[in-house]
Amino acid sequence: MVSTSAAVRSGLHFLPTPTTQTLSPNQLLLPLTAIVNSQDHLEIGGCDVPDLVQRFGSPLYILDEETLRSGCRHYRQAFHRYYPGESLVIYASKAWNCLAVCAIVASEGLGLDVVSGGELYTALQAGVNPELVYFHGNNKSIDELQFAIETGCTIVVDNWHELETLARTKAEGGRMNGNPPSPIRILLRIAPGIDCHTHEYIRTGHRDTKFGFDLDQLDQVFAFVSQKPALNCVGLHAHMGSQIFELQPHVDLAGMMMRWMSKAAQYGLPVKELDIGGGLGIRYTEADDPPSIDEWVRVICEGVVRVCAEQGMPLPRLMAEPGRSLIGSACVTAYTIGSHKVIPGLRTYVTVDGGMSDNPRPITYQSVYRAVLANKLSAEATETVTVAGKHCESGDIVIKEAQLPQTHPGDTLVVMGTGAYNYSMASNYNRLTRSAAVLVNAGEANVILQRESYQDLIHHDCLPERLVEKG
Ligand code: LLP
Repeated sequence: MVSTSAAVRSGLHFLPTPTTQTLSPNQLLLPLTAIVNSQDHLEIGGCDVPDLVQRFGSPLYILDEETLRSGCRHYRQAFHRYYPGESLVIYASKAWNCLAVCAIVASEGLGLDVVSGGELYTALQAGVNPELVYFHGNNKSIDELQFAIETGCTIVVDNWHELETLARTKAEGGRMNGNPPSPIRILLRIAPGIDCHTHEYIRTGHRDTKFGFDLDQLDQVFAFVSQKPALNCVGLHAHMGSQIFELQPHVDLAGMMMRWMSKAAQYGLPVKELDIGGGLGIRYTEADDPPSIDEWVRVICEGVVRVCAEQGMPLPRLMAEPGRSLIGSACVTAYTIGSHKVIPGLRTYVTVDGGMSDNPRPITYQSVYRAVLANKLSAEATETVTVAGKHCESGDIVIKEAQLPQTHPGDTLVVMGTGAYNYSMASNYNRLTRSAAVLVNAGEANVILQRESYQDLIHHDCLPERLVEKG
């Protein structure tokens, strides 16, 4: 394992080693297949990274298929190992939703969590089985609810407004496609009131949250749902937050949710599914020490099995919704270095050709990343520089203190751990075109997201006739 105290001597320091190869994907800094090749270049999925930049331009998201598939398998195998009942792993596609990612995850036997009509549409277009899709969100529109009902996916109901809307919609029209009305399959989302340590913006389990039903209201909610034949409440859901390294809150959550399952059953609700959300963190820097996927799944499974035994309850179909820990470490972003600004005695800024538009996490959550020079991987890290983005915003800093060899314009800088919440939160700020993404595997690189063009940028712009210069 990479020692947290080891000095960063070169980019080689971050490569997987025979020891780190046995780590869970969420504990890796670089993807599983990362190596240094004979040209002293970083290679991922059998592809030379500077060469990928030559071919596909930069910034470029490089997604390693093997690491992503390995994450899916770690989750599924851990559930099989530790849970005697039925289980389902649902990929929280908000981490990165696009056709190729949905297709890969589905091919590994995972279900999908979507939070908008757009994510649902993409999942369906990728061929995901709607029966394995769970539709989340705290303010789903009527159109989104109808879309979800038509496709037959499960709706994770967040609040009273949604509950009442669903009961009414169903009573009024049933299925939009003319099929005989059948009850809508729902889970109820609970705000569990459990605190955990992570950034304030990505905590959701505490009581003061916009998501889910407050515990004080659950009796009323259960009573309401039990009176609505249009609603088929098959289970409960909770999610505590993201980038969490602690295990105990998840054990507590599993225990308390089982007690609420028991309560729901007393109201006659046919609850059989327990979805305990996602949240497992990943290693962005050597200082991060997340538990493995295996450990995370084990403590949750043991917690549920224990409570079921104590209370004499049947084992639920147990579900988890990982996003970041499945895909975060499977991707890197390659940038091309451009301008430098040296302020003697103060700081050196090294600027890349992207920034907050392709990775808004540093400016949003003060997230810390690590980087290497992909075209001189073994060069000694001799400088501490600030890697700046190219946006017109002083806060657009990719890495505040990066240890790198001397850099030059044209060098390829690779930032690690950009698979989750990077592309999915990307923007066109300053009218930058959104970056391309390639999927790499065994020496092959396939474009999975095309780089946007200037034409794409104005595709939805409209210029009213009266503003067109006559001339
Ligand atoms: N389930 C629900 C209901 C969620 O809201 C989330 C994440 C997940 C599962 C997946 O959580 P994960 O396993 O990825 O931690 N943009 C932020 C993260 C926002 C997380 C939103 N919900 C970031 O970049 O850190």
